[in-house]
Amino acid sequence: MDLKKSLLVLLAIALGALAFASTNGEQVYQKHCSSCHQPTGKGIAGAFPPLVEVVPEYLEKGDLGRKFLIHVVLYGIQGEITAGGGTYNSMMPPYGNQLSDEEVAAVLNYIAKAWGNDKLLPKDFKDFTPEEVKAERGKKLTPVQVYEEWKKLVK
Ligand code: HEC
Repeated sequence: MDLKKSLLVLLAIALGALAFASTNGEQVYQKHCSSCHQPTGKGIAGAFPPLVEVVPEYLEKGDLGRKFLIHVVLYGIQGEITAGGGTYNSMMPPYGNQLSDEEVAAVLNYIAKAWGNDKLLPKDFKDFTPEEVKAERGKKLTPVQVYEEWKKLVK
């Protein structure tokens, strides 16, 4: 193999490793969330609430909204909610045991910005970080306790 070819091979390996190391929020979403909330983020009326336009609304509420979103993914949610004009009374299972802090942060950043949500975010929005997710893990909330947070948030 000549030098140029070897360098190209090395470059390909390095890029592959980089892609593997950086957690991709879209991939986490497709694998763990899209079956219910749909690839479009629009959900299914009456069964699964939309995330389009809804996630920025929670982020408008500042720190409480941010924590609520982390808690939904870590601990699930159960109770009657309204979202995007529809009513849902169901349960989302917890994902804290299946997803790492990096994956939770990545998927939250994805749903915060996908489908045009990026245009609706508050100006001071900062990306979710794995450290921020880690800090919420010790709380061990139930899906019903996360629902109590939702009620406080929307009133
Ligand atoms: C098995 C179906 C299912 C999966 C998979 C699922 N969810 Fe949910 N999700 C729901 C349901 C149902 C609710 C509403 C629960 C209720 O009625 O209290 C919900 C609520 C939410 C909410 C609050 C929503 C709102 O519209 O007000 C967010 C945010 C959310 N899910 C994000 C996610 C993310 C991110 C993932 C992937 C890590 C995910 N969900 C995976 C079913 C699911």
